[in-house]
Amino acid sequence: MATPKTAIEMADDLEHHQLEQLGEQYIAKSLLFNLADGRRSLGTHPSGARMLMGEDPRLPQMPERPTLIDFFECRFAPSQQHLLQSARLALTNGLPEKMVLACLLHDVAVVGFIRADHGYWGAQLLEPYVDEEVSWAIRFHQVLRFFPDESVGYAYPEAYLQMFGEDYELPEYVHAAYKLARNHKWYMSSRMICVNDLYSFDPDVKVELGEFEDIIGRHFKQPPEGLGNDHSPAAHMWRTLRRPCNAL
Ligand SMILES: [Fe+2]
Ligand SMILES: [Fe+2]
Repeated sequence: MATPKTAIEMADDLEHHQLEQLGEQYIAKSLLFNLADGRRSLGTHPSGARMLMGEDPRLPQMPERPTLIDFFECRFAPSQQHLLQSARLALTNGLPEKMVLACLLHDVAVVGFIRADHGYWGAQLLEPYVDEEVSWAIRFHQVLRFFPDESVGYAYPEAYLQMFGEDYELPEYVHAAYKLARNHKWYMSSRMICVNDLYSFDPDVKVELGEFEDIIGRHFKQPPEGLGNDHSPAAHMWRTLRRPCNAL
């Protein structure tokens, strides 16, 4: 009797099945994706198959010169409500427009790119296109989320007790980053992201991106050649978002 297949073997079967459906084009997953599943090499692709280099047929197709709004619609849409709800709360609470933009984009890495160290990745992705205070606030909201500030009614999130356990201890770099942020002139801007982040998960509320189009227009420096086609220090990150499974 054949031994039952491992989860990895079954995943490989599924991939090969998908490959057939995609007309012999092999779409590799990044090593980062596979690392924790025990597949620690780049592996081989089926002989004769070409590897994907170009638009991914499984994803919504993007215009040639994509804007931030195109990325919301084509890449962030499945999880964008968290961002939209946070931004609406910031607007209701009377935050300045550029901070509404910061709330709109604060978890852009989580919803479109990568979870680990999401504040840092998000800030880097946005830095060339937003006011320095906005990207700074996004970078540090990740660590400030772990530290209460009674002066603005921000407590350690209940959800974190469940997500990470009551005995979770923060790594040293988080303490160091907190200390740095706490004494910075933009501390309160980053803290405001946390304050407007906390109560914004509501599955019944549907916020439309259109509400923020004007704010995006005024505070996001959209490159005319399209995000990813420009040569900013973050252009490659937008290209990866657009075509996340390109072989190289
Ligand atoms: Fe976050
Ligand atoms: Fe968030």
